[in-house]
Amino acid sequence: MYKSLQNTFLGLALLTSSALAATSDQWRGRSIYQVMTDRFAVDDGSTTEECDTSMGTYCGGTFNGIRQRLDYIQDMGFDAIWISPVTKQVDGDEPGQAGYHGYWQQDLYAIEPHFGTADDLKALSAELHDRGMYLMVDVVVNHFAWKGDVDSIEYSKLSPFNDESNYHNYCEINFDDFSDWDQIEQCWLPSGQVPLPDLRTEDADVAAGYNTWISELVSNYSIDGLRLDTVMEVDRSFWADFVQAADVYMVGEVAFGDPGTVCSYQDHLPGMLDYGTFFDLTTAFKSPSNSMSDLADSISSVQDKCADSTLLGTFSENHDQPRFPYLNPDLAAAKNLIAHTLLSDGIPILYEGQEQHFSASGSDNGGNDPYNREAVWTSGYDTDAELYQLVTKLNAARSAAIADNVARPYLHYQSETLYADDSTLATRKGKMVTVLTNCGSEGDSYTVEFDAKYQPNKKLTEVLTCETAQADGEGKIEVEVTKGEPKVYYPTERLGGSGVCGN
Ligand SMILES: *[C@@H]1O[C@H](CO)[C@@H](O)[C@H](O)[C@H]1NC(C)=O
Repeated sequence: MYKSLQNTFLGLALLTSSALAATSDQWRGRSIYQVMTDRFAVDDGSTTEECDTSMGTYCGGTFNGIRQRLDYIQDMGFDAIWISPVTKQVDGDEPGQAGYHGYWQQDLYAIEPHFGTADDLKALSAELHDRGMYLMVDVVVNHFAWKGDVDSIEYSKLSPFNDESNYHNYCEINFDDFSDWDQIEQCWLPSGQVPLPDLRTEDADVAAGYNTWISELVSNYSIDGLRLDTVMEVDRSFWADFVQAADVYMVGEVAFGDPGTVCSYQDHLPGMLDYGTFFDLTTAFKSPSNSMSDLADSISSVQDKCADSTLLGTFSENHDQPRFPYLNPDLAAAKNLIAHTLLSDGIPILYEGQEQHFSASGSDNGGNDPYNREAVWTSGYDTDAELYQLVTKLNAARSAAIADNVARPYLHYQSETLYADDSTLATRKGKMVTVLTNCGSEGDSYTVEFDAKYQPNKKLTEVLTCETAQADGEGKIEVEVTKGEPKVYYPTERLGGSGVCGN
């Protein structure tokens, strides 16, 4: 099914002149930085603006702010950004009732003024393209929003779906009951003081409205890709025409840890966020007592069940989940988690602030929504931060592997497990071997030896420390794990011209 979708993309690309819209194949080699517009950068570039995440109100980030801070993102090696939804939100800025995150829209045809104007968004898009970067925009088709009781909703004020008949009758989704999928698709997401009227996306007129809108949105703002919110809550039959109308790569959200369920949606959409691995990933690195073998099983299950694991979006933090440092403040653990995020099968997605190790300070910072939405400017955009530096090296190593002209190209090579035990996972993807550990910075040093499938005596560079190593006469490597640090190996001779470790 994915193959036929891709053929459709290629066909449409030849027939239309949407030169900037990017296909799945073009996205496969990208690296994405996830931005929540309200929390990334303010207009004047200030780093002193207050932002109390607990309030759930606007903190002042804008499209212009992002545009002026693109160096920070690009210098880390990212060549795409995903920004939170841009459409006009519920009015007002009362605590807990403000649409600062972008998921409470009321008008698809207007841009939320807190974030800037339509021209500001166009300027951001143009600047990204000047830099050779892509723009991914988050879109919500499942629901609109209203401030007040369900009974008080004035449907005529919503646009363009301005009639009560466009929405399902009120009932709240019961997330304890996955046996009844209809109620997941047709009931409303629970959301406290702001009810979320649920669109009848199964109706032809609603679907047509969305298809017209998305093709205009993509074209008006030269959007290269989409992130689709709440895919599981939308009728499956909705997606095929929407995918065609948008004519760009898209990555869907099904926030559910079962690989079979997540992967089943890749039959409808080009890409899915890799929630099938996410929970096992964070669990593996949360504590030395958890098993890395479980992570290996999860990776292989996703590879088996998804149509194409190389088109998934791989992530380890986002705006909906507790920050990893809140689960485990150990910096070495975060390094391993990030190494996996950037070097496994899918298109890497780093959530803003992850590179600043937000938020290891404990308390409620970095915990669940809304605490996981800290303003990035409070870090001073520190490019010397240890994780910022690590991400830069990992993106560079990945780019070198992508550029390496080998028989089995990196991007299409599904990572294989070379070695896994409770503490260690070693994988190979293309010519790169990644060794991850969950023993933490306080863990004892240890050595693992495994068949890395290198040619005998191959000289290697460990790209995070630039130390050299060598495979033995049988292609095995021996790796000493110290202070819980990850290691990433690549044949030295193939790094020529890459800039990695001075090559
Ligand atoms: C796209 O631009 C056209 C022309 O300005 C406008 O009529 C249309 O409403 C816009 N659509 C969206 C989704 O912004």
